[in-house]
Amino acid sequence: MDVIQREILFNRIRSWILDAGNIIRENMYDPLTIDTKSNPKDLVTELDRQVEFFFATKIKEHYPEHLLLSEEGYGDHLSHFDGTIWVIDPIDGTMNFVNQKQNFAISIGVYADGIGEIGFIYDVMRNNLYSAMRDNGAYKNNVRLQPLQEKLTLKESVLCMSHRWFMPNRFVDEEVMHLLSKEVRGLRSYGSAAIELAYVAEGAAEAYISMGLEPWDVAAGRVILSEVGGKLTDMDGKEIPMLSRSTIIACNPSIQSKLLHEYFKKGKKVT
Ligand code: IPD
Ligand code: CA
Ligand code: CA
Repeated sequence: MDVIQREILFNRIRSWILDAGNIIRENMYDPLTIDTKSNPKDLVTELDRQVEFFFATKIKEHYPEHLLLSEEGYGDHLSHFDGTIWVIDPIDGTMNFVNQKQNFAISIGVYADGIGEIGFIYDVMRNNLYSAMRDNGAYKNNVRLQPLQEKLTLKESVLCMSHRWFMPNRFVDEEVMHLLSKEVRGLRSYGSAAIELAYVAEGAAEAYISMGLEPWDVAAGRVILSEVGGKLTDMDGKEIPMLSRSTIIACNPSIQSKLLHEYFKKGKKVT
């Protein structure tokens, strides 16, 4: 993808994501059909589907050669990550959307032959649009995000982690996680992977650590985070796959080594 094509694409996504935000805001207080998917807590509404359909239609119309990897069924069945691929979560944080009517985001990443070129995360109710183009920096609305250079310790850090890490689980010893919770300044859990990744990128949290995320939860945040020097790996410090679920540790670079080696490596369960 050349620079001009990429910029046109970036501007189109920017305009479409703002339109999609309007669709959500205009319809969210109407009676909504809420269905469950894999379990009673895994929700989907007609607006999740409507927003994904909106993007799928735009992509087919303007970029018929591009492929779509997405959550709610309008995407392609991908067995590779070659070519230009859009990775879309139409509403990330559907439970928040249903129960709170806030703390949810639209997440869009565009990858060319496996390389993250564009990332957008739109926190719809706060009207905060996070965006990035590879090698062009990351922005929150029109303000450029600063590189994550400040040297921080874990003691000064706020980590976004859900309660699941502190209960018996198949990834790490929860006792080691209890020690981690004692060392850090604080823990938060917002219920939207996209928003929590954006918080790490803007320095509002030092890490976001999550089990079993899908590619559409991470695709945009990965591009945005990379533009500010943030790190995003699996629990072993390895790159995450883009076609399957993974457990991720996204963080400020200054705490990565300690997090990985003193907590996740030490606590890792052998499966
Ligand atoms: C979920 C949210 C949540 C994370 C889950 C995701 P969804 O996405 O990002 O924070 O813990 O793993 O599935 O289902 O609301 O799009
Ligand atoms: Ca999601
Ligand atoms: Ca979703």
